[in-house]
Amino acid sequence: MKLAIFGKSGQLSRALQRQLNAGPHTAMYFDRNACNLASDPADIYEFACDMLEVDVVVLAAAYTGVEQAEDDQETAFAVNAKAPEVIADVCARRDIPLIYISTDYVFDGEMQSPYQPDYPANPLNVYGRSKLAGENAILERQCEAVVLRTSWLFDGNGRNFMTAMLKMEENGKRIRVIGDQIGRPTYVGHLADAVLKVASRLNNKNESKTGVYHVTNTGDPVSWAGFAREIFKKSGTQLSAPVIIDEILTEEYAKRVARPAYSVLDTSSFEKTFGLTLPDWRDGLDLALAEWRQH
Ligand SMILES: NC(=O)c1ccc[n+]([C@@H]2O[C@H](COP(=O)([O-])OP(=O)(O)OC[C@H]3O[C@@H](n4cnc5c(N)ncnc54)[C@H](OP(=O)(O)O)[C@@H]3O)[C@@H](O)[C@H]2O)c1
Repeated sequence: MKLAIFGKSGQLSRALQRQLNAGPHTAMYFDRNACNLASDPADIYEFACDMLEVDVVVLAAAYTGVEQAEDDQETAFAVNAKAPEVIADVCARRDIPLIYISTDYVFDGEMQSPYQPDYPANPLNVYGRSKLAGENAILERQCEAVVLRTSWLFDGNGRNFMTAMLKMEENGKRIRVIGDQIGRPTYVGHLADAVLKVASRLNNKNESKTGVYHVTNTGDPVSWAGFAREIFKKSGTQLSAPVIIDEILTEEYAKRVARPAYSVLDTSSFEKTFGLTLPDWRDGLDLALAEWRQH
């Protein structure tokens, strides 16, 4: 199988590279220099027409700056919605299946139980709206398209909540972490396993799998504060005094972007359709911490 992956230096793109380097599949990776997804759609279309002679396309690149997107709506929508739409057009013409990675931030967080993929989306911020627009644009095209919504990505190499917490690890330090947003962390290496499993299934082209699926690690939902506690507990720190976590409420956090209070995703339709259940996020945390120690 030959893949084209938009994104080269992002967390997911790098995890895909690590796995694909081991074979047997081959992949091309397009970074921002090769194809700037914020550029003129006509240029992106031309690039895709020139380059997409592959079995499956994966859109792992995205405008992921949730705060920045509030001030840069135009770029967020260009990268997360318009560019994917244009690429989906080319995929439709060539009969190439497409995988689009999306987010739990398409939901408003009002639910108290895990979100099903068909639950009405109601994003609270520009980033979530741009990703939802990307999902819809792709699904309206005539290509075989799988949208994989995931949540709270972390690994040992990227810029994410886990690595940010570990950078703050100092003797007896007090840190304030939000305790009233609940989600499910997802180890990027496990997400990459899921993406490659879906790509293989799409490459077989037996039956259409077009639709929206939720794919995250399993395990108990947790707050950011709970996740932070688990990170420090497992980090194998040599500190004589532990880091102290002060749980705060979202409203005490001086950021202006609304985020869902509850964004746990129900993964059962993904598991049933693709025959893969991701491990507990705590197992992912062990792997991410091992990566971080080697980094
Ligand atoms: N991170 C999370 O917690 C999270 C949660 C739910 C869903 N997701 C989704 O999961 C996917 C992967 O996320 P990630 O954490 O791997 O993202 P990431 O680490 O922030 O990487 C984003 C990638 O997109 C590329 N990119 C951004 N703007 C671009 C542009 N104008 N043209 C071309 N490339 C551009 C970046 O390239 P540069 O390196 O050149 O900037 C980078 O390679 C995304 O679709 C994201 O929406 C993420």
